[in-house]
Amino acid sequence: MSIFDEIIELFARRGGDVYFGEPVSQLEHALQTAFQAEQEGASDTLIATALLHDIGHLLHKLPEDIADLGVDGRHEQVGAMWLARYFPAAVTEPIRLHVAAKRYLCAVDCGYRCGLSAASIRSLALQGGPMSEKEIREFEASPYAREAARVRRWDDLAKVAGSKAPGLPQYQSLLEKLSVKTA
Ligand SMILES: [Fe+2]
Repeated sequence: MSIFDEIIELFARRGGDVYFGEPVSQLEHALQTAFQAEQEGASDTLIATALLHDIGHLLHKLPEDIADLGVDGRHEQVGAMWLARYFPAAVTEPIRLHVAAKRYLCAVDCGYRCGLSAASIRSLALQGGPMSEKEIREFEASPYAREAARVRRWDDLAKVAGSKAPGLPQYQSLLEKLSVKTA
């Protein structure tokens, strides 16, 4: 099974799940995030990152209201590790950092923090809240921090009910081109 087939299968099985407290499904959220990246003229690598950034949610069996239950599923780690079997660090590292990027942006950009959805504000507390000064410096020094922050901003815009975005098949060649291993 190719990586694209695995991704299709995952979204077919779990993509209809509600995206935690938001008016979109997991699949709609992924597609809208990728479309935001495309509209900003992002590289193919970052478009793939945007599309796959929340795949960790599809890989675990935690319920959709885990934030309400006071549990952080660490989906960014789960997803980045799963994808690292197939994709280079340029795709997976911004995914691993995209929750840290939210904590970073909340600390350095008041406008960003004010624009977060209610569900995202709830999960922020579980994720550690806005970064401290020390954490900000460490985050800024990490490779792919800038890319992770870009993905994060697209992520937060990708929760619009009924918004049109290209479907998964549109990304097949892009994902296959970027994958370093196909089995
Ligand atoms: Fe997301």
